[in-house]
Amino acid sequence: MTTDSIFRVAIVNSKGGSGKTTLATNLASYYSSQQLKTVLIDYDSQGSSSFWVSRRPESCPDIQIISAYKQPTNVTRNWFLRPERATQRAVIDSPSGLDVAQFKQTLLESDAILIPVLPSSIDIHAVAHFIADILLQGKIRRDEGRVAVIANRVRKNTLVYHRLEQFLNSLGIPFIASLRDTQQYIKASEVGKGIFEMPRVDAKDVDSWQPLLNWLDQCEKNKSSKPQFSINS
Ligand SMILES: Nc1ncnc2c1ncn2[C@@H]1O[C@H](COP(=O)(O)OP(=O)(O)O)[C@@H](O)[C@H]1O
Ligand SMILES: [Mg+2]
Repeated sequence: MTTDSIFRVAIVNSKGGSGKTTLATNLASYYSSQQLKTVLIDYDSQGSSSFWVSRRPESCPDIQIISAYKQPTNVTRNWFLRPERATQRAVIDSPSGLDVAQFKQTLLESDAILIPVLPSSIDIHAVAHFIADILLQGKIRRDEGRVAVIANRVRKNTLVYHRLEQFLNSLGIPFIASLRDTQQYIKASEVGKGIFEMPRVDAKDVDSWQPLLNWLDQCEKNKSSKPQFSINS
């Protein structure tokens, strides 16, 4: 965890299509709509988050994009990844097939780590390995309370959904939200927006974010209540 004033949320899952970019872009759009100065850091060489920002209408609050996957070899990491002054929120989108060992530093510096999972048997099986990997290789302890899972593209009352719920309970990692499978996410992403910025969005979908936003608020409070050290102190 960092001691600066930027609250950093990393979104990870080695499985492609689980909803990392959807979660990252919607969270960045939510924060910016709350007048919080936000940067989206895109580590995926497919550049989906970067492309989303490039489509963002001028009428929407600005989001800085750092296409981290483009880092030139002759430039230092800290310089290249530097957010603009007064940035309050950093949302980190990561690639599928993530190498946890290589991403360890970013995980250590994150104040919250979100793992979106699809409720299918294959994805549940894969995420079990991935979670074990980030806990062991990423040296993240469950009791730090900064890792949480989100079920994405859920059609409630399906059998696999219950299996996912049971599995997460057994891991002792909080299962904080379920996002519905809805065209709203696809429509919003096509125009560089989040669902919060779309007209006539279903209240159910907005509400489904509330437990996730509350959990992130709590992580942010935990971070601000810790003593802050500066390099000179
Ligand atoms: N809750 C959802 N409802 C409908 N479509 C979704 C939802 N979440 C993601 N998608 C769609 O699924 C595809 C994969 O999601 P994406 O966020 O790109 O996954 P990842 O970044 O993990 O590879 C995208 O086309 C996205 O628009
Ligand atoms: Mg992606």
